[in-house]
Amino acid sequence: MSALPDLAACFEKDGFAVVEAWVSQAWCARLKDHITELVVGFDPATVQSVFTTHEQSRTTDRYFLESGDDVRFFLEEEAIDASGTVTVERARSVNKIGHGLHHRDPVFRRFGQEHDLVGIARSLGLERPHPLQSMAILKPPGIGGEVGWHQDATFLQTEPPSVVGLWFALDDATRDNGCLWAIPGGHRGPLRQRWDRHPDDRMEFVPLDDTPFATDDAIPLEVPAGTLVALHGLLPHRSDANRSEQWRHAYSLHLVDDTCSYADRNWLRRP
Ligand code: FE2
Repeated sequence: MSALPDLAACFEKDGFAVVEAWVSQAWCARLKDHITELVVGFDPATVQSVFTTHEQSRTTDRYFLESGDDVRFFLEEEAIDASGTVTVERARSVNKIGHGLHHRDPVFRRFGQEHDLVGIARSLGLERPHPLQSMAILKPPGIGGEVGWHQDATFLQTEPPSVVGLWFALDDATRDNGCLWAIPGGHRGPLRQRWDRHPDDRMEFVPLDDTPFATDDAIPLEVPAGTLVALHGLLPHRSDANRSEQWRHAYSLHLVDDTCSYADRNWLRRP
């Protein structure tokens, strides 16, 4: 925990902070084994939802909209054909599991408690951190999809913006297997868009500011397994597809500050 002051200083300056060896290799293995167990117990035929952040057509997808307080599986875009049939083996078909792992799943709940994730968020400036959304991200070899440039505050809206992401590498993350990329200092720019849930459950991206992201300044965050990457909610970040032979498992938890108001238009209805 002695690294916390550095973490906060980096976070303030760059909009992200990287701390290697935050999670033990034993915990990385435990979480990966548990993710594998969850996938083994999942039948892809029960799911039609596909996750991408540059796609608006998941508008009527109740499976997604009701996943905030549950443990649900989202398929890789390339794992299903035009008719909706899953075309790859189950082990590589899942893009992510979410979004209530942090309190619905005993292993991830224990991980959060033992690693004091609320305390980390407090050290990064949240007065009353509230864990809101969690994801096990699988990024399978050869098929794991890209996630385009975005700010997390687009997807978890408070007034003022407060969301913080805690991202844990469970495998070594490299350019080849789709590591995070970020724009240092980019968190000082405005929020570019909101993703709003209408009363009829239609989802819409609402433009707020057309300032382009300074993508020429982006750097890859190549990190070993066990690394914590803390991400400011306004920081532009992305990740590539995984075209390598290596898995790129990660776990992420997003927290908001309960001293800020939580917008009714959020996709995620607070449990
Ligand atoms: Fe993100």
